[in-house]
Amino acid sequence: MRELGVFSEIQPFDFPLKRILAEPPAGIILSGGPASTLAAGAPRVDRKLFAAGIPILGICYGMQLLMRMLGGRVVRSTQREYGNAQLRIEGASPLFAGVADSSTVWMSHGDSVAALAPGYAVTARSADGAIAAIEDRPRRIFAVQFHPEVAHSREGKKILANFLFPVCGAPPTWSMENFIASETARLRERCAGKRVVLGVSGGVDSTTLAVLARQALGDGVTAIFVNNGLLRLNEEQEVLDNLRRRLGLKVTYIDATRRFLANLKGVASPERKRKIIGRTFIEVFYKGLKDFDVLIQGTLYPDVIESNPVQGPSQTIKTHHNRVREVQRLEKQGRISEPFKFLFKDEVRQVARLLAVPADILQRHPFPGPGLAVRVLGNITRGKLEMLKQADAIFIEELRRNGWYDRVWQAFAVLLPVRSVGVMGDERAYGQVIALRAVTATDGMTADWAQLPPQVLDAAAQRIVRRIRSVNRVVYDVTSKPPATIEWE
Ligand code: XMP
Repeated sequence: MRELGVFSEIQPFDFPLKRILAEPPAGIILSGGPASTLAAGAPRVDRKLFAAGIPILGICYGMQLLMRMLGGRVVRSTQREYGNAQLRIEGASPLFAGVADSSTVWMSHGDSVAALAPGYAVTARSADGAIAAIEDRPRRIFAVQFHPEVAHSREGKKILANFLFPVCGAPPTWSMENFIASETARLRERCAGKRVVLGVSGGVDSTTLAVLARQALGDGVTAIFVNNGLLRLNEEQEVLDNLRRRLGLKVTYIDATRRFLANLKGVASPERKRKIIGRTFIEVFYKGLKDFDVLIQGTLYPDVIESNPVQGPSQTIKTHHNRVREVQRLEKQGRISEPFKFLFKDEVRQVARLLAVPADILQRHPFPGPGLAVRVLGNITRGKLEMLKQADAIFIEELRRNGWYDRVWQAFAVLLPVRSVGVMGDERAYGQVIALRAVTATDGMTADWAQLPPQVLDAAAQRIVRRIRSVNRVVYDVTSKPPATIEWE
């Protein structure tokens, strides 16, 4: 939706109808999902949603849900349909205006619609005659079995545009130029004359935010750079140089390495690590800064979604450290501002480009707030951190040398909490294991493992075991997200 210039939000299936009706959106998409509408406890929406007069597009599960709830019939197919299929359009649906009569679409479903609910008509089938699209045109409810949102669906974007513009009449006003203008105005309105602080990490998000804040608020903005001791090799000098010299920002540098590592001592649980890091970060902020009015944070939309999972029964995937209790308290006092909280990572990059953030800063890989703490698996020591920094720097250097750094979304080393047997000289050694991870992604919500050339992996592995004596094994992670996450913890 956003690529087509229309702002959209993701909300869980049980988002209260009252809140939808309080600020009615131009349209609603009922998305696909892994559940079956035939299973007990399957996610359902409020039935009154269908009578609210808001245009609806059901996709895959969304289509089956519409039929299940409105009196059609959904059946479990004997075989899962997965992959390319041929779409044959029947009749003239506004959803298919300007769309070729026959085109390739992407299907991924187990259940199918066998009988329509009253008032519905078939508007497209797949080559084998199965129902691929339906509509109740007078009520502006449309549904498709295939996935128009994936690139494999040739005419997908046109179909989505047909839903957005002629059907919903949504104005295409979402652009990063507009975002910068409106966010600048909002920041000025909210923060003019106030003491504004902002945590910076040197990453794309916080750097871009700092540039935007300074552009909006001038010298009233102080960027605080906390070294938590969990940064990559020599990263603190590099970041300070970028922020101060290259971007001309006012930066307060706080080296809190000792405090972070002391608080993390003996802690092995990733959730506890995140909580401790979040809390220590806030403590350090308070200490360094008794007088401030507003704290600007670089929270992004995926952090918001992942901390409030859309799937009802699933647990919180990870506690993002921007959401710990201390921050929530500041939020209640109205002292937190999160200008990027509706942006996806690729949108922040567009903002950065528009604000002329230098390319090498822009192309830096994302780095998690808890830093190397979630890459030293298990408890953290200075020795382990040192080892990981060296391994990570070697891997990144090899990627850069071979032109792979800019081709992957993120790449890093992980220190595993296991030992493995190896031979060093004539001796059997019981050594440390380093895992290398590189993924391609467009927004980090999903990711594929990067198919790096064997010689790049080989060069990195050889240099790592040569440089770090206690490491005798290097492995490469070949899982995608899902089912894995990008980070190991
Ligand atoms: P996952 O591991 O969830 O990562 O697939 C998705 C993206 O988020 C980053 N990440 C974090 N960033 N605090 C952050 O600021 C965190 O706790 C955190 N955990 C993961 C990760 O590096 C990837 O870019």
